[in-house]
Amino acid sequence: MKTAITELFGIDYPIIQGGMHYVGFAEMAAAVSNAGGLGLITGLTQRTPELLAKEIARCRDMTDKPFGVNLTFLPTFTAPPYPEYIAAIREGGVKIVETAGRSPEQYMPALKAGGIKVIHKCTSVRHSLKAEQIGCDAVSVDGFECGGHPGEDDMPNMILLPRAAEELKIPFVASGGMADARSLVAALAMGAAGMNMGTRFIATKEAPVHQNVKDALVQASELDTRLVMRALRNTERVLNNRGVEHLLEIERAKGKSLKIDDIHEQVAGVYPKVMIDGDMDAGAWSCGMVVGLIRDIPTVKELIDRIMADAERIIRQRLTGFLDGAEQRPAAARAIA
Ligand SMILES: Cc1cc2nc3c(=O)[nH]c(=O)nc-3n(C[C@H](O)[C@H](O)[C@H](O)COP(=O)(O)O)c2cc1C
Repeated sequence: MKTAITELFGIDYPIIQGGMHYVGFAEMAAAVSNAGGLGLITGLTQRTPELLAKEIARCRDMTDKPFGVNLTFLPTFTAPPYPEYIAAIREGGVKIVETAGRSPEQYMPALKAGGIKVIHKCTSVRHSLKAEQIGCDAVSVDGFECGGHPGEDDMPNMILLPRAAEELKIPFVASGGMADARSLVAALAMGAAGMNMGTRFIATKEAPVHQNVKDALVQASELDTRLVMRALRNTERVLNNRGVEHLLEIERAKGKSLKIDDIHEQVAGVYPKVMIDGDMDAGAWSCGMVVGLIRDIPTVKELIDRIMADAERIIRQRLTGFLDGAEQRPAAARAIA
């Protein structure tokens, strides 16, 4: 399949694996890139720029396909040394960066000087337009369904994607709630040039996380995510568990006076406990509503091949079938999942 995104990044299929804390290691990124998508190493999971340089080198040993690095600009007072992280990315020869969180404006000159293509992930049309204006090459438009930080506008992708299509000149991918061929075809129909998946990629054989995490994703339904930290205007969509229920009790008790220190235990240092130790009740970790569509743990290649084969069937048979007036049984849409 050829779209503005496959052309921009030199990949076979318009499928990106979004940056994921404690998931986006070299194994994950290489598996996605080897399967024809775009894999991303999560920059800040590496505690120092030197460790990121090593992770990039490890990934290069595992794939000769294009891969990228996610750089998340956190809303913290003591910022990580971003210029050094960018230097590690440039010296590692990586040519694609997914930025997220705050606007990457301040770092665009350094990224562009390294010949890097920048795709900025954001949750609103106004932030997408800002990304276009500051020279980003593409946008990842992240709807309210998404795992992680959906922003504060609560705008689902059925509205956000067509709105982005109306306003943007640069290509964009649909992010949040994407799981299968149906998601991809719908995203393309709404004007996107591909899709970005987070949660779905965790439930794959290669995802370097504890088996408990993958099993929890298969077992959970679309009703099992919760929004936390709304009062702090740092809303995050997470998978419910005992730690999250405790967090929500604290949030209810504190109301608008909630401070980050009140929930420190339920949000800080949770990722290694969940992803490495498999402690599923440790606290808040990002997970999208799309968890309700995850029923198996395929290899990344099986997942991507299935998406592309089903997408072709949906487009050539189901959709053109409507135009041709052929009778369609509802079961046909269910079978393609
Ligand atoms: C476990 C997990 C960790 C994530 N960590 C990050 C991160 O560190 N930086 C970032 O930009 N996005 C992060 N995300 C968001 C994903 O990159 C992606 O935008 C999101 O998962 C898309 O929604 P989906 O989960 O419905 O596919 C994370 C998502 C998950 C599920």
